[in-house]
Amino acid sequence: MCGIVGYIGEKTAQDVLITELKRLEYRGYDSAGIMTLSPQHSATLLRAKGKVSALVDIASAHTTTDTMGIGHTRWATHGAPSERNAHPHQVGNIYVVHNGIIENYQELKTMLAYHDYTFKSDTDTEVLTALIDYMYRETHDTLAAVTAALKMVVGAYGIAVVHTDNPDEIIVARKGSPLIVGLGEGETYIASDASALVGYTKQVVYLHDGEIGRCTKSGLTLQTIQSKAVDVHVETLEMDLQAIQKQGFDHFLLKEIFDQPRTVQATLAGRVIPDQGYARLGGINLSDDQLRAIKHVMIVGCGTAYFAGMQASYFIEQMTDDVTVSVEIASELRYRSYNIPDHTVALIVSQSGETADTLACLMELKRRGVLCLGVVNAVGSTIAREVDSGVYVHVGAEISVASTKAFTSQVAAMTIFGVMLAAAKGSSPQLISEFVNELGALPGEIKNVLDTQNQHIQSVAQQYASYDHALYIGRDTLYPAAMEGALKLKEVSYIHAEAYAAGELKHGPIALIDDRFFEICYLQDNWLYEKSQSNLIEMNARGAHAIVITDTIKDIPAETMVRITTKFEHLTPLLFNVVSQLFAYYMALARGNDVDQPRNLAKSVTVE
Ligand code: AGP
Ligand code: GLU
Repeated sequence: MCGIVGYIGEKTAQDVLITELKRLEYRGYDSAGIMTLSPQHSATLLRAKGKVSALVDIASAHTTTDTMGIGHTRWATHGAPSERNAHPHQVGNIYVVHNGIIENYQELKTMLAYHDYTFKSDTDTEVLTALIDYMYRETHDTLAAVTAALKMVVGAYGIAVVHTDNPDEIIVARKGSPLIVGLGEGETYIASDASALVGYTKQVVYLHDGEIGRCTKSGLTLQTIQSKAVDVHVETLEMDLQAIQKQGFDHFLLKEIFDQPRTVQATLAGRVIPDQGYARLGGINLSDDQLRAIKHVMIVGCGTAYFAGMQASYFIEQMTDDVTVSVEIASELRYRSYNIPDHTVALIVSQSGETADTLACLMELKRRGVLCLGVVNAVGSTIAREVDSGVYVHVGAEISVASTKAFTSQVAAMTIFGVMLAAAKGSSPQLISEFVNELGALPGEIKNVLDTQNQHIQSVAQQYASYDHALYIGRDTLYPAAMEGALKLKEVSYIHAEAYAAGELKHGPIALIDDRFFEICYLQDNWLYEKSQSNLIEMNARGAHAIVITDTIKDIPAETMVRITTKFEHLTPLLFNVVSQLFAYYMALARGNDVDQPRNLAKSVTVE
């Protein structure tokens, strides 16, 4: 979801908070605000609807020497984006910033109204703020008031709380939404994502669910919600400034697309050695016996992570003879009554490692005794810490809301898992060798697509930017690529794009084809080429505006062609997907959209 930040130390708090918020804006951005507090207990509250830049305009007209405060970028759940609903929320002398959802806020609001509380906003967060104020009347201590209030809360939160009587402390707490504390020399930082701390400190503490902390200039103390002291475990933040800067690209999305040769290499490093036909995920400590015993793989994720699972599922089943794979949309799985086959292992896929729906499925699968393996990017994230074991895909901070490099590396990582299963089971040695070789060649093949196709794809996008409807068509392993391609286009260009299995068109969707639509057709020169070409010919017969992405040199009846050259047999969908990523980027650009922060979206969906 959005971002929360805080600072207490010697620097001008407003400057630190604004810098931190700019780093977090990609996580959610419909309004923003900061509150700073002077040693004389004077609070300044600045809030604005819209991007952080609107807040910066207000703050730049305001001079301050305050050295502590909290801030927030919002992705609204309760109450429309507005200044009134923006955080920090204030009730009495309490100020709160909050990530998450207070599910029982209505009951709490009713109870508080009996105690003469009135509310200025439509948010659940203001109710939490009033509840803390209500508890403070009894405790006269902010940490105790927050603890008492959170015991009454049902829902998810990452919060930072300030009482104006106590300018030397910020209280933090988390349950279901990430929260990190950065430790400096005589100063302490707070953020919901490590990228906000880069350049300020490398000493960080990841809070766990149920922990409440007291931040002062000299550091952090932690306790549980039952007021039991907790050891502070300090880790070193590996992220650097370069990772969160555009480095000459116009947008993070384009940078991250072009970053893929390097990031795929980072994912494969030490895991894939083609000369030795070797591919193994060190973080997944399963013996060959344990791998042999696996009969079913359950892949769980949302959005792009789900499509990565769909893509990998084909490869895993191709390489193994006795393993079935199911791929689950986490928001569906978490409420569905489902049965789990014997000898099942779950792959929990998440770039951020904080997606609420995915995390909920993980916790339920663990409760039911399923071995859960993580395929995660964000180091130290909640999912990464809750799985039984797993791997990081090591693509670095993915800032653009639209996920690109994470998808490719998630598929690569899960394909390696498929190789591990097949090797342990002694199935398809030739296929294993082919997949391992293609994995090893993947960075170079992606670079070739980027180098040879970028300009052509940009011109194709300009030809089709005025369309508002698109069909993405793929067969077999190209069908998941079509789904991911359609999502990418949807989320950055706002064009209505649907993906269909090529063979499914004639069962209804072909009725859609007219001049309002263009069609992206994935056509690989393999054993299904003729079948897929027939689908294309069926569409052309109905006036399709087909853009064909292909690796063949054969003549193809299409309005527009994007031809890539590759010797790949198996991982070709990942190369076609790079074409789709670039296409989506240039379509968004041509339509004047905010490429890195598309409307209505957030990078990490930590609420339901
Ligand atoms: C992908 O481009 C979207 N931003 C979104 O679908 C995303 O993949 C989904 O929210 C899952 O996020 P996660 O990988 O961080 O769990
Ligand atoms: N539920 C809170 C609100 O709607 C917080 C949303 C968020 O995480 O940004 O204000």
